[in-house]
Amino acid sequence: MPQFNDTELTAAVIKSFEETPDPRVKFLMEELVKSLHEYVRKTDLTFDEWTYAIDVLTRTGQKCTSSRQEFILLSDVLGVSMLVDAVNHREREGATETTVLGPFYVGEHKPMPHGTDVSPGLSGESMFVQSRVTDLKGQPLAGVPVDIWHADDDGFYDSQKPNYETRGPSSRARFITDADGRFFFRTILPCSYPIPTDGPVGEMILQTRRHPMRPAHVHFLVDAPGYEPLVTHVFIEGDRYLDTDVVFGVKDELVAKIEKRTDALMPDGKPASAPWHLMSYDFRMRPGKGTAPKPMLTVTEDA
Ligand SMILES: [Fe+2]
Repeated sequence: MPQFNDTELTAAVIKSFEETPDPRVKFLMEELVKSLHEYVRKTDLTFDEWTYAIDVLTRTGQKCTSSRQEFILLSDVLGVSMLVDAVNHREREGATETTVLGPFYVGEHKPMPHGTDVSPGLSGESMFVQSRVTDLKGQPLAGVPVDIWHADDDGFYDSQKPNYETRGPSSRARFITDADGRFFFRTILPCSYPIPTDGPVGEMILQTRRHPMRPAHVHFLVDAPGYEPLVTHVFIEGDRYLDTDVVFGVKDELVAKIEKRTDALMPDGKPASAPWHLMSYDFRMRPGKGTAPKPMLTVTEDA
């Protein structure tokens, strides 16, 4: 019966994967074991700490529901999501920068007509969002689905509110770009918000004396055939949390100046109640392949 010292143990576990048919799976498992073992060795992890870690991961899973994804949140606050984003987007070639998907993406919705108010009945200052999707040379990309979602004036996503399943989406929609690559809609100005702190991720944030805030932003997922799917946010210039985003997701290029306007008409010629805000931000797509992220949440708009 073999007995291993701690170094031999690592080698034995790595060897246990040698018959793995898929070389990528084999590589990922070997490297995972190396890093995990190294962490235990480096920290002289105690049994209490190991038990605590198991408990945190258990509760992270238990906190997940059809409308909440605590594991994405954990990945986000540890910077893993942004690191995965970084290693997969090293060459941008002028394409719009990417950032985290976040835990609140619930997937596609029925396309809405341009100009739709996606936040009807919500309190908050009104905002008109206009955008154009192009290739790297500025040529318009028509017929491209664009999913958008953002928090409301209280800092909550629709999926965080009670009875979301029966109330349906709010501040969340899909648009299809027109022949000139454009889309536009009405909504409210989102505000900065805390990530949920009533679970194990929030517990870690509070115990380590970090703040839980994300700077105000609108999420965009642009999925043009023949181009890399673009998962990004547009952040609102001037937000106090831009430098300390709890998920490390801010990039300078993604911060937009939102104009405060008093014009009687919005850009589509329809009346506005002043004052209102204008977000103008265009997206440049990089040719390539890739699959747009699938929603981890299972809430549907028809439910
Ligand atoms: Fe968000």
